[in-house]
Amino acid sequence: MHKKFIPITIVLAILLGLTIAGYVAPDEKQKLPVRILFKNSGGKVIFTHIKHHRDYEIPCEKCHHERDDGSKEPLPCGSCHPQTFDRDYVRDHINSFPDNSYCVKCHHAELGKLNFDHDAHEEYADEDCQACHHTADIEKEPQKCGNCHTSAGTPEVPSVRNAAHDRCVDCHDDMFKDGLKGCNPCHKMHDMNNYKGDHTPCAQCHQDEGKDLVLNRLDAFHDQCMDCHKKLKRGPYKDDDCDKCHLK
Ligand code: HEC
Ligand code: HEC
Ligand code: HEC
Ligand code: HEC
Ligand code: HEC
Ligand code: HEC
Ligand code: HEC
Ligand code: HEC
Ligand code: HEC
Ligand code: HEC
Repeated sequence: MHKKFIPITIVLAILLGLTIAGYVAPDEKQKLPVRILFKNSGGKVIFTHIKHHRDYEIPCEKCHHERDDGSKEPLPCGSCHPQTFDRDYVRDHINSFPDNSYCVKCHHAELGKLNFDHDAHEEYADEDCQACHHTADIEKEPQKCGNCHTSAGTPEVPSVRNAAHDRCVDCHDDMFKDGLKGCNPCHKMHDMNNYKGDHTPCAQCHQDEGKDLVLNRLDAFHDQCMDCHKKLKRGPYKDDDCDKCHLK
């Protein structure tokens, strides 16, 4: 054999070997839990995991709904649906996910460039700068609102969001009446698949803070377990069925 073919032959032999080994060696299958015991204040629940999949023929992604591509390990429900969304959650959840593609599931929007034609608005306001800017006692010269108004705001100085919106709404109440659908004329949104910056707290945009945007743990389990039972009319789901899942 010509000398220069020897390294190539060796590489090919190794690759062939690896290919065969790949076929012969068993798939590194993830261990499926047989049963799962949930301990909670309503009484322990034994969930027959394998039976649900094998005997009742329910595909994994019916329950593990983050498995879009079918390959990633399912995450524990509690990493996304905790008991409460408190400061511990904010601290811990950032490290709960295998990679950053998960962030987008919840952090789905960030403000992009402001769409605002300043020159045109000087005209619309009849050259009255104070339609938006302060008088000289606060603002010696008109400038960017963000120079004084911070994202969080203080009791004395409102957040930049509230300050700006408060001025714009005078002439654009129609945009704000549309709720979250009305942000677009002024705010371009980032393409979140390529977003690199910090994530904005949900409440910056979702101003109704009482609203649970992601289900808490109890509701996540009850909804998933019982919605399916109800739909199929099999398994416990009726109001007096609590004991069929919760052991005393
Ligand atoms: C009927 C719903 C359901 C089906 C179907 C199902 N699972 Fe699960 N699975 C669960 C629940 C609920 C848990 C518990 C998660 C928790 O405790 O946060 C779980 C837990 C797991 C865990 C353990 C995760 C951990 O971190 O502890 C793995 C692994 C898993 N499932 C894989 C699978 C695979 C693979 C399939 C398909 C072959 C599947 N499951 C089908 C509901 C289901
Ligand atoms: C990677 C994060 C993540 C994981 C892990 C996760 N969820 Fe969710 N879940 C979400 C998000 C985000 C929503 C959507 C919120 C919305 O649209 O209301 C959601 C919605 C739900 C809903 C509402 C109905 C639906 O399907 O849209 C149920 C029920 C639910 N999850 C149960 C579960 C259960 C049970 C598990 C574990 C087997 C689980 N989730 C694991 C993030 C997650
Ligand atoms: C309709 C509301 C409105 C009116 C009327 C208005 N401004 Fe502004 N102005 C703004 C906003 C909002 C910003 C901040 C824009 C930003 O952050 O990109 C701004 C920013 C500025 C800035 C800072 C620009 C920079 O890039 O640093 C100057 C200077 C300014 N305005 C001058 C004026 C003057 C002078 C008038 C009157 C002739 C006027 N503005 C009228 C809303 C207005
Ligand atoms: C030089 C600092 C400074 C700049 C620049 C500034 N603000 Fe303010 N703003 C303040 C302070 C201080 C207060 C609180 C004092 C008060 O309530 O009068 C305030 C209060 C406000 C308020 C609530 C009280 C009111 O006047 O209605 C609004 C709304 C507001 N600012 C809008 C804006 C907008 C819109 C811009 C940009 C176009 C802007 N501010 C730029 C310092 C500033
Ligand atoms: C004095 C009244 C007035 C104020 C205050 C005002 N606007 Fe306007 N704005 C107008 C008028 C008039 C138009 C042009 C007619 C129209 O399209 O409604 C306009 C148009 C716009 C448009 C284009 C509308 C579209 O559908 O594309 C945007 C974006 C906009 N304004 C943003 C702002 C922002 C941001 C503020 C607050 C900083 C603001 N405006 C405050 C009067 C005002
Ligand atoms: C009429 C135009 C207009 C509309 C409609 C509007 N905004 Fe704004 N928004 C502004 C302006 C102007 C600012 C101030 C930007 C600056 O000076 O940096 C602002 C600021 C904000 C900020 C603060 C950003 C920061 O840096 O802290 C948030 C959050 C925000 N808007 C969310 C929204 C959401 C969510 C909607 C839809 C419900 C919305 N806005 C609708 C004009 C608008
Ligand atoms: C299941 C939904 C969900 C997923 C997935 C998720 N987050 Fe969050 N995140 C939240 C909620 C809810 C909060 C706290 C409430 C809020 O921001 O208003 C939060 C808060 C944060 C904050 C703090 C924001 C602030 O300034 O208060 C950061 C930073 C953050 N998340 C980063 C991430 C990163 C990075 C990922 C991906 C690795 C991720 N998150 C995945 C729901 C989620
Ligand atoms: C930059 C602004 C912004 C931030 C930050 C933001 N959202 Fe949203 N969100 C929106 C807008 C805008 C819509 C409406 C989209 C539409 O209907 O076109 C929306 C819609 C939603 C919806 C659909 C139901 C509804 O209320 O209309 C959910 C669920 C949601 N967001 C969850 C979250 C969660 C969880 C976070 C924080 C982890 C978050 N959002 C952060 C702007 C934001
Ligand atoms: C996608 C559909 C689906 C989901 C989600 C689901 N189940 Fe079931 N479950 C079934 C079916 C089908 C049966 C079979 C009932 C029968 O044999 O008639 C069943 C039966 C049961 C039974 C009685 C028999 C047994 O297997 O022990 C219990 C208890 C039960 N499920 C608990 C749960 C719990 C807890 C959850 C949530 C963690 C859950 N199930 C989620 C479909 C589902
Ligand atoms: C299909 C099975 C099923 C049925 C039926 C069911 N649960 Fe649950 N329940 C669960 C699961 C799974 C959990 C979540 C366990 C966890 O968070 O670890 C849970 C959690 C709870 C919790 C604990 C909340 C906490 O924060 O600790 C309470 C309370 C509860 N259920 C009450 C009820 C009541 C009342 C009923 C009857 C109306 C009922 N459940 C019916 C499966 C069920």
